[in-house]
Amino acid sequence: MKIISDALELKTYLKTMSKRVGFVPTMGALHDGHLSLIKRAKEECAFVVVSIFVNPTQFLQGEDLESYPSRNDADLKICELSGVDVVFLPQAKDIYGEDELSIVAPNVRGFVLEGATRPGHFNGVLTVVNKLFNIVNPDFAYFGKKDAQQLNLISLMVKQLFMSVVIVPVDTVRESDGLAMSSRNIYLSKEERVKALKISTALYEATKMVGSGELDITVIKEKMLRILSPLEIGYVEILNRDFEYIREVQLSKSIILVEVLVGRTRLLDNLWI
Ligand code: PAF
Repeated sequence: MKIISDALELKTYLKTMSKRVGFVPTMGALHDGHLSLIKRAKEECAFVVVSIFVNPTQFLQGEDLESYPSRNDADLKICELSGVDVVFLPQAKDIYGEDELSIVAPNVRGFVLEGATRPGHFNGVLTVVNKLFNIVNPDFAYFGKKDAQQLNLISLMVKQLFMSVVIVPVDTVRESDGLAMSSRNIYLSKEERVKALKISTALYEATKMVGSGELDITVIKEKMLRILSPLEIGYVEILNRDFEYIREVQLSKSIILVEVLVGRTRLLDNLWI
C-alpha cells in the first residue's frame, strides 16, 4: 500500500492508471461504516484510493476541528488490511492555499437541515470533495447514506458540474443496539451512549407507523419528537429524496432525518423509506 501526501504526486501517479479507480474520501478515525465503503469499492473497482483528511473548511467556529479524533496509525493499518492500494494523507497546506475560491452549496437544498444549523458547512464539504475528485480522478466514489444531505449535494454537484465520477451510496452500518456508526461516537460517555439510542428508536418507531399506514408527517414527527424529547433536538424532518418538504410520506421516495445533540456531541441519523 502506498501512502502519498502530495496532491500533485498522487495526481501524476494515477494519471496513467488503466484500472477502474474507486475512491473513499474520509476524515479518518475509521470504523465499520468506512470499512463497508472500502469493501464495496474493492468489490467494484480494481484500484482503491482512500483519503484521510480532516477538512478544516467544513467545521464552523467553535466546532470540534481541534479535537476531531485522529488515529492515523490505526487507520493506515485498517486500510492496509482491507487491501487499499493508495492512502492519500495530506496536510491542510497540501490542499488549501491563500485567497481560495470555494464551491457554494445551492440555495434550496443546501440551506435546509444541516445547511441551516451549520451555515457554510456544505460549502466546505463540496469544495474539498471537488478538489479530491480532481486529484484522484476516480471512476466511482463511495459515500455513506448516514450523511444523506452531504450525499445528495455531492451527487448534485457531480451532475451540475458535468463530472464523470459515479457516486455510489452505501447503507448505514449500525452497532448491534441500533446506533449508527460515526467517528464522533467515541465522544459519548456511557450514559450519553444509552441516551443516543433514542435516535434509532425514534426512527424505527416512525417506520413502524408508516408500515401500519400512517403517512401524515405531522403525526409521525410528533411521536418522534416525544421519544427524542430528553435530548437537545437539532431537527426531525421527513423530506423527499430531493430534500424538499412534503406533507405525506411518499413511499420509497422519502427520508426521515434526525439531528440531535447528546451532551456536546452532534449526532445524525436517517432512514430511507
Ligand atoms: O463525510 C466525510 O467524512 C467528509 O465530509 C468528507 C466527505 C470526507 C469531506 O471532508
